[in-house]
Amino acid sequence: MSRELKIGLFGFGVVGEGIYHVLQATPSLNATIKKVCIKQKDKKRNAPEELFTVNASELLEDPEINVIVELIDDAKEAFIISSRAIKNKKALVSANKKMIAENLQELLDLQDLYQTPLLYEASVCGSIPVIRNLEEYYDNDLLQGICGIVNGSTNFILSRMFDDSLSYSEALQLAQQAGFAESDPGLDVRGIDAVNKLTILLLHGYGIVSKPEDHLHIGIDRIHNLDAKYAAEKNVRIRLVAQSKKLKNGRVAAFVLPQFVSNKIQLYNVNDEYNGIVLQSSFADKQFLYGKGAGRYPTSSAVLSDISALRYDYRYEYRKLKNNSENELTDDFYLELYAAFPIRSKVDKNDFEWITEYNCRDQRQYIKGVIHYRKLLETKWVNDASVSLVLCPEGIIENEEVAFREVKEKFWKLAGVAEKKKEVVPDIVLVER
Ligand SMILES: NC(=O)c1ccc[n+]([C@@H]2O[C@H](COP(=O)([O-])OP(=O)(O)OC[C@H]3O[C@@H](n4cnc5c(N)ncnc54)[C@H](OP(=O)(O)O)[C@@H]3O)[C@@H](O)[C@H]2O)c1
Repeated sequence: MSRELKIGLFGFGVVGEGIYHVLQATPSLNATIKKVCIKQKDKKRNAPEELFTVNASELLEDPEINVIVELIDDAKEAFIISSRAIKNKKALVSANKKMIAENLQELLDLQDLYQTPLLYEASVCGSIPVIRNLEEYYDNDLLQGICGIVNGSTNFILSRMFDDSLSYSEALQLAQQAGFAESDPGLDVRGIDAVNKLTILLLHGYGIVSKPEDHLHIGIDRIHNLDAKYAAEKNVRIRLVAQSKKLKNGRVAAFVLPQFVSNKIQLYNVNDEYNGIVLQSSFADKQFLYGKGAGRYPTSSAVLSDISALRYDYRYEYRKLKNNSENELTDDFYLELYAAFPIRSKVDKNDFEWITEYNCRDQRQYIKGVIHYRKLLETKWVNDASVSLVLCPEGIIENEEVAFREVKEKFWKLAGVAEKKKEVVPDIVLVER
C-alpha cells in the first residue's frame, strides 16, 4: 500500500466526527479524508459542506481513495459497504461489532479472495488493544481463557445499582441521561452487544468461527434489587461478563452471563463505563487490560491505530484459524449458577445436579447450584424474564469435578457413612410445573 492514505469515511456521528478531528490533529500520519458519506443530506455538520455526500459510490468507486473507514450505525448497510470496499480492493477499517460478528465467515472469505485487509480493533472494548494482542501475542496453546467486561453501558448501570443502590430502571435512565446507553438499550442490556464481541474474540483467541446466536447470552435486564442485595451480603459485585475457557478436554466453553465477581479478581474494580479484560494463559498466568470501551475519542483512538497500521501493510493473519487449530466449542460442561425467581415459578430444582444454597424471602426465592450447561439451555426458565441468572465466581465446572463428586458420594454410601448434609429445598420450588 502507498504511504499516503486517502480515506473515504462512512458515518459522521460520535465516532466518525471523532476520527475526523483526530486525523486533523495527527498530520504526521499522512492520511487525509477525501470524502464523507452520510445518510441525512441536510443535517448540519462541523466540517466543510463539500466534504459530504449521500452517494456511497463517490467513495467506493473513486480510484484515488485507498482506505474506507466504516463508522455507521446500520449493520446491514455496513456489510454492503464493506463487501463493496473489499471487492474494490480498498483496505477497510470498521468499528461495527454487530456487522463483523454476524458476517465473520463472509468477511474472512472476502479478505482471502481479494487479498484486502480489514481491521476492526475498535469493535471490541473500544480503546483497549485486545484483538491485536490476541492475534499477535497469544499463540494457540497459550490462551486458556478470556474473561471480560466488554460493554460500558451495562457496567455503568450495574455500578449505579451497587454503588448508589438504584433500581435497574433508575440506573438505566441515568445511563441514558449521561449518554452511556442508547435510547433503545436492548442490544446492550440483553447481552447482544457483549456476545457480538465474544464472537470476534473467539476468532482471534482460538480460531473459532461462530455466530453470535451460537452462544448463550443473558443480559442484565433481569437483575433484581434482591440479587444486588444478595451480592452485597456476600461481598461480591455483579458484572456482565463475556467469557471463554479452554477445558481440560481441549474444547472451549463460551457464553455471556451476569457473574458474581469477588475482590480477588481484577474485574471487581472495573466500574462505571470502563471495560476490562482478563486473559489467562498457560504460562504467564493472568494478564489484565483495562480502559475506555466506548466514547468518541477512545474509540477514535483505536480506529486511528488501525489506519496507522495500514501504512505498514498490517493485516490480521488469523493464524489460529489458518493453521487448522483444533479448537472447538462445546456445550458439555457444568455451571455453578444462582437462579432467583418469584414464588410461583417454573424453575425446577431437579434440573440441578446438586444445590448448595436455597432461600426464600420477600416473595422471591433463589437456588444456587450446579447445572449442566446443555440442560440449562433446554430449560424453559432460562429465557423467562422473571428469572434472574448469575454465574458464581469460578462458575465453570469441569466434567471431572462432577464425576469425582459422584464417586465420592458412592464411596460414602458403600461405607455406610451419611452424606454431607445437602441444602434442603422445599417443594415450593416445584409449583406450576
Ligand atoms: N459510539 C461509540 O462509543 C462506539 C464504540 C465502539 C464502536 N462503535 C461503533 O461505531 C459505529 C458508529 O457508531 P456511532 O456511535 O458513531 O454512531 P452514530 O453516532 O449513531 O452515527 C452514525 C452515523 O452513520 C451514518 N449513517 C447511517 N446509515 C448510513 C448509511 N447507510 N450510509 C452512510 N452513512 C450512514 C449517520 O448519518 P447521519 O449523520 O446522516 O444520520 C451517522 O453519521 C457503530 O458500528 C458502533 O457500533 C461505537
